[in-house]
Amino acid sequence: MSRIHEALKKAELERAASQGGATEVHDANANPSPEYAPQATPGMAASTGPSFGAAYSFDALLARCPQGLWHPDQKTMLFFNGDEQAYGTEEFRTLRSRLYQIREKQGLRKLLISSSLPKEGKSFVAANLAQVIVRQQGRRVLLIDADLRGPQLHNNFGTTSTPGLAEYLRGENDEFGVMQRGPMENLFFIPSGKAMTNPGELVANGRLKFLLSRVEPLLTGSSLIRRRLSQFPTPRCWPTIATAF
Ligand SMILES: Nc1ncnc2c1ncn2[C@@H]1O[C@H](COP(=O)(O)OP(=O)(O)O)[C@@H](O)[C@H]1O
Ligand SMILES: [Mg+2]
Repeated sequence: MSRIHEALKKAELERAASQGGATEVHDANANPSPEYAPQATPGMAASTGPSFGAAYSFDALLARCPQGLWHPDQKTMLFFNGDEQAYGTEEFRTLRSRLYQIREKQGLRKLLISSSLPKEGKSFVAANLAQVIVRQQGRRVLLIDADLRGPQLHNNFGTTSTPGLAEYLRGENDEFGVMQRGPMENLFFIPSGKAMTNPGELVANGRLKFLLSRVEPLLTGSSLIRRRLSQFPTPRCWPTIATAF
């Protein structure tokens, strides 16, 4: 028995030596490893360039993400026109209540709204759900337009599409560089960035996961919404929005 044990031990030592003496433990649930962290682009000033590794607080986020001027589309952005009873607003309040009911039973932190075809209302629902949630005191929402092929949400909000998620995934900007704030308090928005034809590799490079791990603590107890395209089997399928409460 001891000879078997010694043989196993020897094999283990040889294996460790062949790996440079290091023993790695892979934990699928662990925080994203540093390789997921986007690397700062060389040449960027330390004070203003990407700061992917540094911890930050919600106050720091507010300070570095000043409110910008948005021109929301009055027809489709239901909560920006000041009419509390506008057609469709009650449906979004109902949807919000249902989500909170679900959250009481399970740890609902992210919500994905998807459909199989374009023009089925994903952007419309994403944007208005985000608005109706932040209308409740203390709720924060981050909406991410991850439809890298067909960016749309920036048009709904009447703001710019770049820099956005695509630039973050490429390591060109950090969170502060891509996150926008408009006139509605606690509603944060990351536009899609520059449109591309084949975003699959970029979305799968792990940086989206890293981004969410960075911003989620700031939104704990509140909401995080993200639109995304991802692991659907055909390019015609467009999962769109996720939210974490
Ligand atoms: N429930 C709705 N009520 C009114 N207009 C809607 C509704 N859902 C979608 N639309 C409109 O339909 C069009 C396509 O919706 P959009 O959200 O851009 O679709 P998707 O994101 O799925 O491609 C937009 O002009 C949008 O304003
Ligand atoms: Mg859309």
